Order: sequence, then C-alpha cells, then structure tokens
Amino acid sequence: MANPYEILEELNKEASLGGGQERITRQHESGKLTARERIDLLLDEDSFVEVDRFVKHRCIDFDMDKQKIAGDGVVSGYGTIDGRLIYVYAQDFTIFGGSLSGTNAKKICKLMEMALKNGAPMIGLCDSGGARIQEGVESLGGYADIFLRNTLASGVIPQITAVMGPCAGGAVYSPAITDFIFMVKNTSYMFVTGPEVIKTVTHEEVTKEKLGGAMTHNSHSGVAHFACDDEKHCLQMIRELLSFLPSNNLEEPPLFKTQDDPRRTDSELQNIIPDNPKKPYDVKQIIYSIVDDRKFFEIQQHYALNIVIGFARMNGKSVGIVANQPDILAGCLDISASMKAARFVRFCDAFNIPLITLVDVPGFLPGTDQEFGGIIKHGAKLLYAYAEATVPKITVITRKAYGGAYDVMASKHLRADVNFAYPTAEIAVMGPDGAVNIIFKKDIENAQNAEEKREELIRDYREKFANPYKAAERGYIDEIISPKDTRYKIIKALDMLKNKRESTPPKKHGNIPL
Ligand code: HXC
Repeated sequence: MANPYEILEELNKEASLGGGQERITRQHESGKLTARERIDLLLDEDSFVEVDRFVKHRCIDFDMDKQKIAGDGVVSGYGTIDGRLIYVYAQDFTIFGGSLSGTNAKKICKLMEMALKNGAPMIGLCDSGGARIQEGVESLGGYADIFLRNTLASGVIPQITAVMGPCAGGAVYSPAITDFIFMVKNTSYMFVTGPEVIKTVTHEEVTKEKLGGAMTHNSHSGVAHFACDDEKHCLQMIRELLSFLPSNNLEEPPLFKTQDDPRRTDSELQNIIPDNPKKPYDVKQIIYSIVDDRKFFEIQQHYALNIVIGFARMNGKSVGIVANQPDILAGCLDISASMKAARFVRFCDAFNIPLITLVDVPGFLPGTDQEFGGIIKHGAKLLYAYAEATVPKITVITRKAYGGAYDVMASKHLRADVNFAYPTAEIAVMGPDGAVNIIFKKDIENAQNAEEKREELIRDYREKFANPYKAAERGYIDEIISPKDTRYKIIKALDMLKNKRESTPPKKHGNIPL
C-alpha cells in the first residue's frame, strides 16, 4: 500500500506546478509571473496558507474529464501583509488560461465569505481568459456569484484588484466593483468586447493595448487607479496602499509613529499663493508640505488632473486628501474630476478615514460637452458624497471658492467640521470680472471711460467680496489661518475630532445620482 505521506507530497508537488513546467515557461516568456510567485511577492514571507489546493472541475464535456488539474485555475488562501490578515486569490493562467469554471468560482466565493466574516481585505490578482468556454452557463453563474459577493462586501472590507494579464468580457465587472484597480503596463488589459468584435460591429481597428491597456484605463476611462511599471512594482504598491487602510469598516486605520513634528511650520507656504489671482500654482506643493514626511500616496494620478486625491498621514493618522489643482484647467470641477473625487470621498467615509479638502476652485467647467455629458448629475455625485460623509471633514480654502463649487467642496453647509481659509481666500458667487459685468452692466455702458469704470468696479468688488471675511462673519469659516501653520492647524482639528460621532437618518440606502 502506498505511503499516505508520500501520496500527499506527490499531490502537493503536482498542484504547485499548476498547468505544468512548459506553460510556466510560456508565462515567464510573456513577461508575467505565475500565480504562486505573485502571491509570494505580495504577502509577508512564509505567511501564505492555501485553501482548496486540490479542488478540480467537474465538467465532462469536450473531453474535459481527461484534463483535471488540482486547483482548477485559481490559487486562493490567506496570509499577512505587514503582519495584518488579508485574503487573496490569484488566477493561474497556466491552467485553462485561468478561465473561470464553476468550481473555481466557488473557491473565490468561499474566500470572499471568509474575508467578510473575519473582517479582512480581499485582494484579487486577475489573469484570465474569462468564462471557461467548455462549461457554458455554469461559468456565467460563477461570475454572478462573485459579483454578488463583491457587492455585499463593498463598504465592509477593502477590496483590491490587480489586473496582471487579460481580463475581458463580463469578467471586468468584479474588478469594477472593487475599491481600487491596479494595472501592469504592457501586460494587462481590460475590455468588455475585444478588438475583433469591435471590428465586426463598428469597423473600428484598435489594438488590445490602445483599447484596454494600463494607460488607457488610467488616463482615459478612469476605470483603473494605478498604472505600474511591472508586476513587482504593482504588488509593492498594493502593500503600501493597505498601510493606509483599516481591515474593515468597524476598525480605525493603523497608526504609524512619525518623527515629523506635528507643530512643524513651513514659511515657504506663505508665498505659495501668487499675487495674481489668475496665476496657477501646484497644489501638491501644499500637500507635500503638510503631510508626515512629505509622503503622499496619490490615486488616479493620470486621470482628471484638475483634482488631486490620495492618502497620507498626519501625526501618524491616515487621512484622505482631496484638492483642486489650479495648475490644470484652473482647478475647475468637470465631470471626470467630480466622479473621481466622489468615489474617493465615499471610500474614505466607508472606512473611517478623515477627509482633508484643499479648495481653490473657480467653479464648474462651462461648455456644451460638459452640459450634454451630464455635469449636473455628475457634479451632484460629489456634493452628495461630501454631504453624506460622517467622518471628520476639514476644509482649507486657499484661494477661490466660487459659486456652486464653494458649496460642493466640503463647505460648512455640507457638515464639514472645521473650515479654515487663508487670508488670500476669495469666497463669492463668482469671480470679480464676471460679477461686475453682470451687476454693473448699465453703469459700465453709461460710463465715459467704460474700461476704467470696469476696472474700478472690479477693484471694489474684490475688496468687498473676494476675501474670506464675509464668510467668517457668518461662521461659515471657523478660522482664518496663516498658510505656514496649515499642518499644525489640521492636526489639532483632527485631534479634536477623534471621537466624532454623526449619523444620517435611517434608510435602506440613499439614491446617489448615478
Ligand atoms: C477555456 C481557455 C480560455 C477560456 C484561454 N483558454 N481562454 N480555456 N476557456 N475562456 C486556454 C487556451 O485553450 C489555452 O489552453 C490556454 O488557455 C492559453 O490560451 P492561449 O490562447 O494559448 O493564450 P494567449 O495566446 O496568451 O491568449 C490569451 C487569450 C485567448 C487572449 C485570453 O486565450 C483568448 O482569447 N481566450 C478566449 C477569451 C474569451 O473570449 N473568453 C470568453 C469571454 S466572455 P492550452 O491547453 O493550449 O494551454 C466572458 C463572459 C463572462 O468571459 C461573462 C460574465 C458575466
């Protein structure tokens, strides 16, 4: 009789090889790591515990009963990142191209349920030819089972996807529901219908890379959040992202000790706002200056550059930063920027991460493109997200806060907790030029020297309204601060708000303008 320990060893060896050495070599030659290599790089050393290593499919059509491979195209289990529990599955392209079978979907669902029950992040590493063609509807059902669990887990545990190979057809919808999508340049792509189908239906010719490569989704569609140079870089970035996040919605994010003095001031910030209100500046200079150790983990850095979002720490605590970027489109809010920031605000709110908002916004971007594209409903998303958020909200108006955009960008009226303004802030219904042209139209027309009159009225308007004092008189601004003190002021406000409790009326869920 065979030795049971030898049998186990043999089976383990077989399972470790996935689809076999030949296919592993092919995977490496195409510039990709295997599922197991990826998991090893992602997790703390020796921390991976595999689940369902010996699961095999049950399909008998198309001679599939003669091709059964342990694991069935996905490696799944749990381990740690920086000592904290996480769940991970990695599709194994060496087994039927990592395609999703009924049993392989069950493995993923089982893991998602464990992650939800135990309150730990779920990470999916995707590299798959999509639905297992031989299994037909069973595979489609498997996808829907995953989508359902993605949806139920949304807002309870962080869900992260790395696309490290193909991800096509309906398969894209699991990543799309998760909170963050990483893509690897040159080796990953995502699309609902591929180049061949597009050619048949619309006669357009497009490459896989152009249609759904990492940069397409990072800079054009906004579907992805990170474009990584290679797989190692991608897995390292996932580890870094997790360092800012709590394990679930009932926990606080981890606290990091910092040597960076919370009282540190920065005299360079005194000159950051240009004298000329039309002159741009880079808001990232303010962000780097105020956060711990100048470390800012930017999200979607290639998309909607007129707004900047990302994580940082202040006195060791995670914060989510949203900032208008005056360097691009004068920091206007448009459709893409509103959607980018709204989803981020909702993520931070779901996971107890305080929001710091830096405001310099001349309004919503005008134009038929924007109006026809639905800026009304997309802008409303950001408004809704800020209004609904109950995490500590701290706002700093550095310069312009005009019109509806003043309201939207975490104003006092949307339940922001602490609203600061620099002395350079201009809080008004619109900029001085536009305002004067409307309310003094007749005076300008009737003046002997129209241009001189216009200039004089603009000066008057600027003195009267383009400052933070009217808003401060009404308590819409709590304090006018010196730019150099921004870091300390925010840290003190965060301390004050650390036990904040606020709720919204009980409801099944709201109806955010989608
Ligand atoms: C079963 C599959 C498979 C699939 C690939 N393979 N896709 N097996 N079901 N969906 C197998 C191949 O037979 C091959 O097996 C191995 O995986 C590697 O595939 P290759 O074609 O040799 O690799 P490559 O040249 O790199 O091309 C990769 C690929 C291509 C672009 C992904 O395989 C492909 O186009 N696959 C089909 C994609 C597809 O149309 N999927 C269905 C999408 S619709 P061997 O034994 O030779 O190694 C869908 C609906 C989901 O997914 C709906 C959810 C709601």
